[in-house]
Amino acid sequence: MEFKQTDIRAIAASAVKLINDDWALVTAAANGKINTMTVSWGGLGELWGRDVAFLFIRPQRYTRELLDESEWLSVSFFGGEHKQELMFCGRSSGRDVDKFESTGLTAIELDGVPCVAQAQVNLICKKIAVQTIDPSGFLDETIQKEYAANDYHRVYVAQIVKTYVKE
Ligand SMILES: Cc1cc2nc3c(=O)[nH]c(=O)nc-3n(C[C@H](O)[C@H](O)[C@H](O)COP(=O)(O)O)c2cc1C
Repeated sequence: MEFKQTDIRAIAASAVKLINDDWALVTAAANGKINTMTVSWGGLGELWGRDVAFLFIRPQRYTRELLDESEWLSVSFFGGEHKQELMFCGRSSGRDVDKFESTGLTAIELDGVPCVAQAQVNLICKKIAVQTIDPSGFLDETIQKEYAANDYHRVYVAQIVKTYVKE
């Protein structure tokens, strides 16, 4: 499965569909370990003059540990395919299982960053900022119900350094 480099602007689908409807995998590696998890909250856009992905990762995720150890990560889009595998990657933890082995998804490296071979699009991203959501900023009090365990998301701003699409 070959990928060719393109520009993020060449991706025709809306970011809302890519992430929120079709779901994505965030993959990171650190200390000889690799893991991937499903995300459906987040966005693509521009910040500080750069193309970026915004990721919202709860602190208890194993992937969060790897993200905090690694400067690089990938975001993979599947265009609505592989939802069963993505559901698995969103329901089980890399602490307990090897998600690649369990799902048949294949980890590959593009520019030395772990990505997913079955994806239609792999974004190679460099972490440029991390911040934990501060609930004192919630203007709509119903948002707090998302955080019964006070497990406020960590917001990762990840610069999109390269965009690869399947050939
Ligand atoms: C469709 C779907 C979307 C998800 N979106 C997110 C998300 O945006 N942020 C998050 O922290 N967890 C999200 N999750 C939950 C994680 O994917 C899940 O807790 C996963 O098991 C974490 O794996 P890990 O412990 O190996 O990192 C989602 C799960 C599913 C099924």
